[in-house]
Amino acid sequence: MKGIILSGGSGTRLSPLTKVTSKQLLPLYNKPMIFYPLETLLKAGIKEILIIVAPERAGDYLRLLGSGREFGAKFTYEIQDKPEGLAQAFIIAQNFIDEDNVCMILGDNIFEEDFSDSIKNFKSGGKVFAVKVPDPERSGVVVFDENMKATQIVEKPKTFISDYAIPGLYIYDNRVVEVAKQVKPSARGELEITDLHNWYLQKGELEVEILKGEWIDAGTFESLFKATELARKKALQK
Ligand code: G1P
Repeated sequence: MKGIILSGGSGTRLSPLTKVTSKQLLPLYNKPMIFYPLETLLKAGIKEILIIVAPERAGDYLRLLGSGREFGAKFTYEIQDKPEGLAQAFIIAQNFIDEDNVCMILGDNIFEEDFSDSIKNFKSGGKVFAVKVPDPERSGVVVFDENMKATQIVEKPKTFISDYAIPGLYIYDNRVVEVAKQVKPSARGELEITDLHNWYLQKGELEVEILKGEWIDAGTFESLFKATELARKKALQK
């Protein structure tokens, strides 16, 4: 299983914090934000990690994270020239993924969960997670039927369909690269990750597991603050 951390974008919603640095390099309690998703992958046993960054910040990431040796891992870097969607990461990562399966985590997503078992037990198809949130309009959202079987996935629904958000950690088999190449840009001009989930869902090959631990997407001032609290909790637990 290969790992990807998608850490592109310009973080405009957090301006002026992101005027001279990238969102995922901002401090969360005692570490830069990206350390948290990085540790989530490392803890799950993933050692080969591609870090996808925005061109303006590439040097900062390289200086901060280096070769990966310090972390007992191997890091590779790629540039996402423009924030053209999460699904684009799999196209950028094609050579890196090669013949393997892949787990992608977003550089601004902080998890309490240990994903070791999900990674170890993954065989094929797609696996995503779901977590009940008060603000589902901010996320990709999954609808379940009465047997908790996923029936529909929608990116940031404007009207309420479900309060289960899909957090930014995705496990896919190797087919995801070719599927990503077929995705057409959405109205907001991005290759949406939800199109990939739906491809697997329609084939009956998407597993959706309810997340037990806390999860935060640190993309707004409020959630950045909450992420700092979660980071502190994690640091004090150790
Ligand atoms: C992205 C995805 C969304 C997902 C979220 C998790 O949204 O498009 O499906 O639920 O990440 O953090 P973004 O934060 O890029 O708008």
